[in-house]
Amino acid sequence: MATQITAGTSELRDITKMERIGAHSHVRGLGLDDRLEPRENSQGMVGQGKARKAAGMVLRMVQEGRIAGRAILFAGPPSTGKTAIALGMAQTLGQDVPFTMIAASEVFSLSMSKTEALTQAIRRSIGVRIREETEIIEGEVVEIQIDRSLTGATKTGKLTIKTIDMETIYDLGTKMIDALSKEKVLAGDIIIIDKTSGKVSKLGRSFSRSRDYDAMGADTKFVQCPEGEIQKRKEVVHTVSLHEIDVINSRTQGFLALFAGDTGEIKPELREQINTKVAEWREEGKAEIIPGVLFIDEVHMLDIECFSFLNRALENELSPLVIMASNRGMSRIRGTNVKSPHGLPVDLLDRVLIVSTRSYSEEDMQQIIQIRCEEEDVTLTPDALNVLTSMAGSTTLRYALNLISCAHMISRKRKAENVDVEDLRRAYTYFMDEKRSVQWLKEQQGSLVFEEIAPSNDSTEGGISAGDAMET
Ligand SMILES: Nc1ncnc2c1ncn2[C@@H]1O[C@H](COP(=O)(O)OP(=O)(O)OP(=O)(O)O)[C@@H](O)[C@H]1O
Ligand SMILES: [Mg+2]
Repeated sequence: MATQITAGTSELRDITKMERIGAHSHVRGLGLDDRLEPRENSQGMVGQGKARKAAGMVLRMVQEGRIAGRAILFAGPPSTGKTAIALGMAQTLGQDVPFTMIAASEVFSLSMSKTEALTQAIRRSIGVRIREETEIIEGEVVEIQIDRSLTGATKTGKLTIKTIDMETIYDLGTKMIDALSKEKVLAGDIIIIDKTSGKVSKLGRSFSRSRDYDAMGADTKFVQCPEGEIQKRKEVVHTVSLHEIDVINSRTQGFLALFAGDTGEIKPELREQINTKVAEWREEGKAEIIPGVLFIDEVHMLDIECFSFLNRALENELSPLVIMASNRGMSRIRGTNVKSPHGLPVDLLDRVLIVSTRSYSEEDMQQIIQIRCEEEDVTLTPDALNVLTSMAGSTTLRYALNLISCAHMISRKRKAENVDVEDLRRAYTYFMDEKRSVQWLKEQQGSLVFEEIAPSNDSTEGGISAGDAMET
């Protein structure tokens, strides 16, 4: 059975990859130079030099391969750029190296056990680069002839295809005819047919047809008619993650589950078979393992069982680089009554390298605000920029960044081009930040309903209070 293990196709990967936009869409990399020195303001990144350099060094190590069982922890007060740096890393890694990002609480919300969710996340972060030789047919279409049966149910046909040196006729079945008409292949097109999958791709139109008629779009691409044999062997390389191989080969699900995201639990026996098979491919030189990066945001939300599972998983041979982020200081480890730095057990802390992020200086904040304004297409007047920067100083950077779009809305209402101090002031009165909200709560103590918190003995609950967060 182990011999049947397949790795799917490269197209699968393109579809399952997703782009995220939102709070961090201005981050396009780590903004480091070749010597890994942080530039002052580059690729959407400002300040936080030491952490960025550390992240860059880690990336270098990942790209050189052969690191397993390492873990990094980004620790620092809220909104000091931990998530932003991780996303910058993801963008620097390059296409082929898998990067998986989960928030620790996701582990609890899926319809599977915690360890299964973690295992899937880990296996998502390990890529297998597979080399395969496939037979292709490449040439210029001379003629496509299709015969329909009387009922129209079956179609047969003939495809005449040539290169500069030779010409051949192939018989076509219904499936190939459909594939050709889906790609709108006409006589004069240069096409490639993958013999194993039957996939047809069009390279362009032949130069010899360039003067046939003029009714062509500007985007028509002309290519040379290929030389030599029509049937060729071609090496294709594609990268899939171990998780994708798991799902494709899991009997109950099949690869369609990859699109639905509902993969269920995967049997450990199957995983073992796949590991053996991949090891075999490696020995034959057909495949290469690419250890990627698993980023676990808000890692203090994992509980003690997950932590001890991670401890073991890090020691596995097939393990990615694990990056974690936490904004807790001394806080309770979920699932226990023990307090520990960053909410992580000491034995796990012992295995991680800790990178700390610091609060931003006023200038850094100003630059970040400016970058965000450009990203959101908002122009602030110089006065407004100064006011917003000092707001960021007295509240938080996130609050200030959130105000940008609100103030923009207000300025648009009075049909102004730029956001002015007055718009900011009004946005500031409409939306409260944390400090003012707490202040307001205190004032309202008589009229609001306050729930008393019973001493909880349910040890699996979070039980982390806001007071645990690191101070800015
Ligand atoms: N160095 C930076 N350069 C540019 N933008 C940044 C930088 N640091 C943070 N930001 C932006 O500031 C906002 C808050 O940062 P981020 O979400 O990364 O904080 P965090 O450390 O993950 O906080 P938390 O602990 O609350 O999750 C984001 O919109 C982020 O893109
Ligand atoms: Mg974060």
